[in-house]
Amino acid sequence: MLFSHKTNRSIRLSPSLLSANAVTLGTDAAAALAAGGDRLHYDVMDGRFVPNITFGMPVLAQLRSHLGPDAFLDAHLMIIEPERYVEAFAKAGANQISVHVEASPHLHRTIQLIRGCGTQVGVAINPATPLSALYEVLDSIDTVLMMTVNPGFGGQQYIPQSTAKIRALRAYITANGFATQIQVDGGIGLDTLATVVAAGVDDVVVGSAFFRADGDLSRSVAALQRCLDA
Ligand code: DX5
Ligand code: ZN
Repeated sequence: MLFSHKTNRSIRLSPSLLSANAVTLGTDAAAALAAGGDRLHYDVMDGRFVPNITFGMPVLAQLRSHLGPDAFLDAHLMIIEPERYVEAFAKAGANQISVHVEASPHLHRTIQLIRGCGTQVGVAINPATPLSALYEVLDSIDTVLMMTVNPGFGGQQYIPQSTAKIRALRAYITANGFATQIQVDGGIGLDTLATVVAAGVDDVVVGSAFFRADGDLSRSVAALQRCLDA
């Protein structure tokens, strides 16, 4: 957990396992939680919705059994027809499932499907998709996963226009009295963290900037916290 004195709010830290070492994934995942990560972000890519392929349900199930019941596993599905796999990811042990608004034409139904599995519901939105695509569902989801890079790869640069988009979403959620949380994903690190926190996010996904620190993940968390204290 990070804390912003400027806004007097706790910010959830979600290390992205995409940047962990695949050979030592279980150990890295446990270390990320021990170092102060709140939720593990699990990026599922299908080579269709995004131009890359990662891991699926079996690896998530193995992580669940390795980490035990208390670890929060947050599955970000960057796949076409995500509704086909929602139940399988819930069964594998996901605590939250996020689907892309661009990949799910019957989004309301998909949200109900996820809810019915007993997991939390997230909806992800790409940089070029307007916020209005979410307005009709905002009050029935837990999290908006706002992409601040084009999804597909770790280690990309934060898209600067995202800041105004975060502010606009925060204002819309506040004005309507919704409880929806804002999670940002892509290019979040020492140079961008303070900006997105000031703009109003609740949860930051951090991949390369978290796992980069040579072996000592608590140093990554401390460095991120220092950005907010500066
Ligand atoms: C990108 C993924 C992100 C990625 C972020 O498509 O959705 O979760 O791991 O990595 P960084 O923090 O390196 O931009
Ligand atoms: Zn992601």
